[in-house]
Amino acid sequence: MRGLTLDRVGRYARGQAEDLAVRLRVIPYRPHVRADAARWDEEHASDVAATEYAPLVELARYSILSGWVRWLGPGVTVLDLGCGDGILRERLAGTGLRSYLGMDFAPAAIERARRFEDDHTSFAVGELPESPSAPYDVVICNENLECVPDPARYLDRVVEQVRPGGHLLVSLWRHPGDVALHRLLDERFQLVDAVAARNLTSFRSRRWRLSCHRRI
Ligand SMILES: C[S@@+](CC[C@H](N)C(=O)[O-])C[C@H]1O[C@@H](n2cnc3c(N)ncnc32)[C@H](O)[C@@H]1O
Repeated sequence: MRGLTLDRVGRYARGQAEDLAVRLRVIPYRPHVRADAARWDEEHASDVAATEYAPLVELARYSILSGWVRWLGPGVTVLDLGCGDGILRERLAGTGLRSYLGMDFAPAAIERARRFEDDHTSFAVGELPESPSAPYDVVICNENLECVPDPARYLDRVVEQVRPGGHLLVSLWRHPGDVALHRLLDERFQLVDAVAARNLTSFRSRRWRLSCHRRI
């Protein structure tokens, strides 16, 4: 029992030391959320994701993102990366978007998301579109950047999905090292707007930084 506690304390201390090293740029950012598709797929298939991301405590981040889409529209083409089971698509109703493509590497998520498909809404299993023939007006990274194993490489590919002058909208859970992700964003895009959101009633700490970036 004592050994178990010491082990936990040791792991916690190691984690804290690593977080500090990321903040001080001694070591590169490491993903904070598991990165593999199979585990996400299991989560989406088991309803956990639906209860985890749907409720009121997360309303703030979805609302800010859909507010920005409305402000950038009407008539925008939208690509939602790591779209999960389509909650954001539901919240984008009435924003006047021209087309929406949601992508996620978890097939169970996409299967659920398909309930929102319509004439201008589609979903696909995968990480990113192969090569966009017409890059998107708006690309959204809603709580997925903390999952990808190599965010710098990933963001290099995301840039290509945004048309010059178009926008990238990001929601990022506040966690140790998240500033490293914002640094990567700032190196690739012009920051247009940034907002902090925090749920004050939630038992677990729920804080996000949302940002709107422009491709130069
Ligand atoms: C925290 S959830 C957020 C889901 C959704 N954006 C939302 O906020 O409702 C992260 C999602 O990103 C997906 N994901 C993580 N890494 C991915 C990758 N490399 N390619 C595609 N999807 C990924 C997961 O399957 C999961 O659905």
